[in-house]
Amino acid sequence: MRRWAVTELTAAALVQRGITQLTGRSDSPRRDAEVLLQAACGIDRTALAKNPDCSIDVAAADAYFDFLNRRYNHEPIACILGHKEFWSLDIELNASTLVPRPETELLVETALEAIPAGIAIEIADLGTGSGAIALALAAERPLARITATDINPDALAQARDNASRLGLAIHFEEGDWFGPLAGRRFDVIVSNPPYVRDDDPLLQTGPALFEPPLALFGGQDGLACIRTLCTSVKDHLNPGGFFALEHGHDQQDAVKALLSEKGLESIVGLKDLAGHPRVTTARMPR
Ligand SMILES: C[S@@+](CC[C@H](N)C(=O)[O-])C[C@H]1O[C@@H](n2cnc3c(N)ncnc32)[C@H](O)[C@@H]1O
Repeated sequence: MRRWAVTELTAAALVQRGITQLTGRSDSPRRDAEVLLQAACGIDRTALAKNPDCSIDVAAADAYFDFLNRRYNHEPIACILGHKEFWSLDIELNASTLVPRPETELLVETALEAIPAGIAIEIADLGTGSGAIALALAAERPLARITATDINPDALAQARDNASRLGLAIHFEEGDWFGPLAGRRFDVIVSNPPYVRDDDPLLQTGPALFEPPLALFGGQDGLACIRTLCTSVKDHLNPGGFFALEHGHDQQDAVKALLSEKGLESIVGLKDLAGHPRVTTARMPR
């Protein structure tokens, strides 16, 4: 059965219909409806704003209705569209990649402060997922030699595609944390590992349901991957090397204690834009 009448198939009418469907299900029903209609029709925002009464063909309207239903069921826009902007880069996603989060830009900013421009230093991004962090660093520090790893080959394939589409040089390795980097040392190591507790109630509802569990769960206390990284990082940093780690808002004290216990120094905790402790950095003794 058709879900529309022919008279409804103008952009403005479809946006209105989307707003009605998404009100109470999304914090931004108009924006969501507009973005989904643009994606379904292949038209840009300006064209849609200039010509709201343009007619939309049946196939595009059907695609839009499917998008609206997915959004109604709380699927994040980035998962529906298959891409997300991060550090002004268009990052493509697949079912095995985490949607890059705005708070992860703090990790990029922090790492950039420790990476001088114009020097060919060695950087590693562990658990690269879509490649978001490594890609942002490569865009800002073209001389750096960046290695990015992930245990998930499908995530790594997407990261490789992103690097190639964006023309950014990154070397990719598949494996378990430092496993593929045996015997190698770096000047800077960054990671945004899975750090959500296995029983976090937030994971039973909302957007997290649509993301790969391997990218989210960090064991019973959320610290399993962080523990692994903190335990081995000293074996892979050059003297004076810099480590920056993203973690949960309530994990900073535990991360600082772990890093100190493992002999790292100059340990600093940073807050994200929402004021949550989000990134901890440390240096390898010289
Ligand atoms: C929180 S996501 C971060 C993705 C990306 N770096 C970002 O910031 O958007 C964590 C990533 O770690 C990867 N991962 C999980 N367990 C791993 C392991 N044992 N070794 C290496 N990578 C792992 C996941 O596949 C996922 O891509």
